[in-house]
Amino acid sequence: MSDLFSKFDPLIETREQLLSTGITDPFNLVMEEVISPTVAICNGKKTILLGTYNYMGMTFDPDVIAAGKEALDKFGSGTTGSRVLNGTYVGHRAVEQALKDFYAMDHAMVFSTGYQANLGIISTIAGKDDYIVLDIDSHASIYDGCALGNANIVPFRHNDIDALEKRLKRLPEGAGCLVVLEGVYSMLGDLAPLKEMVAVAKAHGAMVLVDEAHSMGFIGENGRGVAEAQGVIDDVDFIIGTFSKSVGTVGGFCVSNHPKFEILRLVCRPYVFTASLPPSVVATAATSIRKLMHGKAKRDHLWENSQKLHAGLKALGFTLGTDEPQSAIIAVIMPDLEKGAAMWEALLHEGLYVNLARPPATPANMTLLRCSLCAEHSTGQVDEILGMFEAAGRKTGVIG
Ligand SMILES: Cc1ncc(COP(=O)(O)O)c(C=O)c1O
Repeated sequence: MSDLFSKFDPLIETREQLLSTGITDPFNLVMEEVISPTVAICNGKKTILLGTYNYMGMTFDPDVIAAGKEALDKFGSGTTGSRVLNGTYVGHRAVEQALKDFYAMDHAMVFSTGYQANLGIISTIAGKDDYIVLDIDSHASIYDGCALGNANIVPFRHNDIDALEKRLKRLPEGAGCLVVLEGVYSMLGDLAPLKEMVAVAKAHGAMVLVDEAHSMGFIGENGRGVAEAQGVIDDVDFIIGTFSKSVGTVGGFCVSNHPKFEILRLVCRPYVFTASLPPSVVATAATSIRKLMHGKAKRDHLWENSQKLHAGLKALGFTLGTDEPQSAIIAVIMPDLEKGAAMWEALLHEGLYVNLARPPATPANMTLLRCSLCAEHSTGQVDEILGMFEAAGRKTGVIG
């Protein structure tokens, strides 16, 4: 019989080669202490965090912490059950109400993670004879949702409106079709042209799902995401989101105005066959979501941070993923994995944590240093970050 692990040999070799150069393993960092949404102790050193998804800096919000502690005392550490059995507490209903209020939508369904929200909603809505037309750069959880439902997958070129339309035109007459898009694509931090794409999808009679994982709380007048910012939120059938980014805890959700939405609670396997979120988690999420409704000042500051970092990195000579800042993610393109890993380590020595991203997670085989800003980064911290990039960039030869 063949060795079931042999398929991993090329990856094991690449990893060993990289580590044999003496570099710190970029995928094995431990946060020894977390001081605030923007500062932690890593390897005994005070480190600025520029690689979390804590966009709105809610993880240490005093109201959020207090709500979690109270729920822990009142309801215990976990539900030990599925939402459809013993796992729905008042807190689960409360967080779903907070989501309905936040998005001004009729229905909200909370999952244990955003990954499971995509897995559950996509696989339940689009089955064996249906078609899912999706951007080729979609998140892994979207692809896994398509695979779980066994739908026919039709990818189109990233953010290409004509390519989307061509794929839709070629589908068999009368077929069921779900178009899946993201608001912000998390590798390069670029936005989808949702206005045009949603119009094209609707003109062809397709349903539309938009994953707003990286835009909730920040983009749009009320922080509802790119669909809100581009004026098409009412035409979107399903919005998927997560609590693990701007909300600052863990969990996932889908909101919708579809009149039959509630039936999904009985037929969606990643909702039914798993334990519900702990009461402390849903309490922190509900408090955070309600505070994000009044987050304009934070949103404005986060835009300032994003613009300042983008302009500063560009001026230093780094190659960036987008010409202009489009979101809270700024991707710095590295020449190759070796240089990327060296730069990542040099930044860590300077006292800065960013995310190293490499294929297959990245588009076009790119190695990226992904910077994600937080509304709690001060202007002074952004200046410090730029100084660290300059020093690390010169040391590693990434900039001249
Ligand atoms: C676009 C997108 N969708 C879904 C998820 C999954 O979210 P969660 O961390 O809640 O599982 C992520 C996480 O990185 C994501 O980037």
